[in-house]
Amino acid sequence: MSKVRVLVTGGAGYIGSHAVLALNDAGWAVAVIDDLSNGTRRIVPADVPFFEGDIADRRFVDGVLRDQGIGAIMHFAGSIVVPESVEKPLDYYRNNTLASHALISAAVDAGVKHILFSSTAAVYGAPEQVPIREDDPKLPINPYGASKLMTERMLSDASAAHPFNFGALRYFNVAGADPGGRSGQIGKGSTHLIKVAVEAAVGKREHIDIFGSDYPTADGTCIRDYIHVSDLAAAHVAALDWLARNPDENLVLNCGYGKGLSVLEVLDAVDRHTNRPIKRVMAERRAGDPPELVAANARLLETLEWRPAYADIDRIVGDALAWERKLLQGPIA
Ligand code: UFG
Repeated sequence: MSKVRVLVTGGAGYIGSHAVLALNDAGWAVAVIDDLSNGTRRIVPADVPFFEGDIADRRFVDGVLRDQGIGAIMHFAGSIVVPESVEKPLDYYRNNTLASHALISAAVDAGVKHILFSSTAAVYGAPEQVPIREDDPKLPINPYGASKLMTERMLSDASAAHPFNFGALRYFNVAGADPGGRSGQIGKGSTHLIKVAVEAAVGKREHIDIFGSDYPTADGTCIRDYIHVSDLAAAHVAALDWLARNPDENLVLNCGYGKGLSVLEVLDAVDRHTNRPIKRVMAERRAGDPPELVAANARLLETLEWRPAYADIDRIVGDALAWERKLLQGPIA
């Protein structure tokens, strides 16, 4: 494919901003839409066209697609906090499913050829076996996972009826920050383990709660498959190349390293980077946490021209910590 411009929705957010950097580094022309509800304008490179607005606003999106000559979309914009989705399910179906419907409709009308969608391991719910393969049952246990699964289905049905192909990348636990210090997670009210842990490590929090130590795992804490955000961003660029080379096929891929780490192993990694161990407080289990989520990633490795560059928890935590220290020096936003 000649290098058309790629629209990144949610490009001022955590994962989206890393995708913008990866696309830029790979020589793609990029444009960003973000409503800045959770994103930060300043982590988008100044030379990338930026449009503040809502992806559900057809007039706005139609204008961007037309004026920027968009040929492909990476769609990150959405709401991402699992417990919040349980409290406010209709917000999640609006921000994720309905907004995606509007965006896909606009893309079809504008003749966009490829759509890459941010999906999640939450589509699997509480799996019966790990590692989880892409064809395993999709039984989400919260509105967040359901809202994402519905969008996958919309993309599948729409791509059968209209001339575009799509990729759905199901992320496991995304963490870390750009190794060059250009972006990272900003988020107010963070809930993700590594972000919370590095906030505690730099003194922004007094302690970390460990949500459950009586799970049926080796050390009693939950196991997750942590993937470095820059490896994930690079997988998006490789997936876009694949979609362009295989216009009649779609792509559904787990994105993880296929290696599980417990909460305690992650906290040990953070402590290895500092002289002052984080204070750990044993707490109750958090509702809805499956004991173990690990990706089967054979399809990812076989399909894409991609190999992880940062598949090491010390590297992930080190980059997250470096970014957190940068945030301490002054506001990015
Ligand atoms: N945890 C703690 N203390 C904390 C934060 C987290 O013990 O302060 C534990 C959690 O209980 C869990 C593990 O660390 O066992 C990881 O929790 P995260 O909140 O970092 O991530 P989740 O695994 O809950 O969520 C991830 C993605 C979601 C996705 C979900 C699928 O971030 O987008 O996996 O279940 F939906």
